Amino acid sequence: MPSFLKPNLLAMRGYTPGEQPQVGEVIKLNTNENPYPPSPQVIEAIKAALTGDRLRKYPDPLGLRFRETAGRVLGVPPECILIGNGSDEVLTLITRAIVPEGGLVAAPMPSYLLYRTLAEQQGARCAEFPFRNWRVHPEDVPAGAHLTFIPNPNSPTGTWMDPNALLEWPTPLVIDEAYVDFTAGHALSLLQKSERILITRTLSKSYSLAGMRFGFALGRADVIEQLYKLKDSYNCDVLSQAAATAAMEDQAYMRARVQQILATRDRMERELAALGFQLLPSQANFVWCQRHDRSVQPIYQFLKERGILVRYMNYAGYGEGLRISVGLEEHIDRLFEELRRLV
Ligand SMILES: Cc1ncc(COP(=O)(O)O)c(C=O)c1O
Repeated sequence: MPSFLKPNLLAMRGYTPGEQPQVGEVIKLNTNENPYPPSPQVIEAIKAALTGDRLRKYPDPLGLRFRETAGRVLGVPPECILIGNGSDEVLTLITRAIVPEGGLVAAPMPSYLLYRTLAEQQGARCAEFPFRNWRVHPEDVPAGAHLTFIPNPNSPTGTWMDPNALLEWPTPLVIDEAYVDFTAGHALSLLQKSERILITRTLSKSYSLAGMRFGFALGRADVIEQLYKLKDSYNCDVLSQAAATAAMEDQAYMRARVQQILATRDRMERELAALGFQLLPSQANFVWCQRHDRSVQPIYQFLKERGILVRYMNYAGYGEGLRISVGLEEHIDRLFEELRRLV
């Protein structure tokens, strides 16, 4: 091992994202992408950004057009918005801003596995605490934590909790709202009540722009101003800013696609339950299913061999399950065709 590298880097495992096959025909239900294309207005905005000399010049480092649009749509001042290359980058920036080397990050278990990686990249530790009744409880947070991440809705379970319960959280808190458009509530009103709360959002899920890489954080203006010092000046390119702004503008398109996804999710939940899977009620664009009578890993493998990719996850101390993204109706037909063969 190259000994000149930092010990925390050498010691960490690194994050393994869901498989992204680059060749072959695959029904991809493993990384919660939106099965529908982005708004036609997004395509128009990208084409417009390709004309003239936009690509020759650097992008707006502050993302002002996006921030004004998102601010208007969400009812938040633009100064309260930080732009990022996917919400993963925004989560990285927040970790760097808050967690000291040797510090402690807290996250519920099971949840998004990236939080541990972010802690380890920072030379900090990650301590997990359990959900109880699919809620988090402040008394469960490990003592000495510098930052807590809470995805709401949660991944992989799809469960959602009332964010008002998070107002008195004992540490600075990131509410990761990657899946918020698939549920009824959100935490935006908490921003005025606590300077220690940040919310992260993404264009990857409800807006169908996972390939563009655009996410953002919302927080108090004075906190966001400080976070801007940490980011790469040009972290969001011209095309992603144009696409994200147009996607935000077209709320009607996003809402219509979300309704289709929710209808398919209901169908998936009904049919999976009928096949003997145990489910949690999902508030996201995926379902989490488990079985008490057998391991689900062979089911994952069986589907994969037939060109259907779902996400198999196994959490020490909690157990294993399959996280299946909501897909196009015809892809879900294929999924159930194969599942009925097996179980
Ligand atoms: C809970 C959660 N947060 C954040 C992300 C990252 O989203 P982005 O594509 O914006 O980096 C994901 C992606 O799967 C996620 O599940």
